[in-house]
Amino acid sequence: MEKTYLMVKPDGVQRGLIGEIVSRFENKGYQLVGAKLMQVSKETAEKHYAEHAERPFFGELVDFITSAPVFAMVWQGEGVIATARQMMGKTNPKEALPGTIRGDFGVTVGKNIIHGSDSPESAEREIAIFFTEEEIAAYSKLI
Ligand code: CMP
Repeated sequence: MEKTYLMVKPDGVQRGLIGEIVSRFENKGYQLVGAKLMQVSKETAEKHYAEHAERPFFGELVDFITSAPVFAMVWQGEGVIATARQMMGKTNPKEALPGTIRGDFGVTVGKNIIHGSDSPESAEREIAIFFTEEEIAAYSKLI
């Protein structure tokens, strides 16, 4: 089953949006198979955002994501990687449509509430950074 890595960023956690965000993905029909409230270390943040290492905002990005706890999640379901990105909206909340998470709750690109893997390769890489195999649950096929 396709899986993706989603993370409520420190701004989303501090604003009490974990429940709202989890509800959206549950209501859509996806399954939550991994979740934890955690403090991201500088090392983990740099690994997670390695593709942005040369960007001028890299330092700011690492500082922000390590500033307070995030809510790290793994979700599964058909097409979850691309559909979760649609549900999140564009990276810059100013361009994100109403009805999307960033469109409804975000204002600035640095504090855009949520992160989601952008491809199957990223999903596999990011899930492995934040979760061990033992931390990923399997849903019963009987229910
Ligand atoms: P995310 O999907 O977590 O992936 C990289 C992040 O970099 C992105 O969300 C934004 O929060 C952040 N980002 C992108 N552009 C900028 C920018 N110009 N200034 C600060 N942060 C940015």
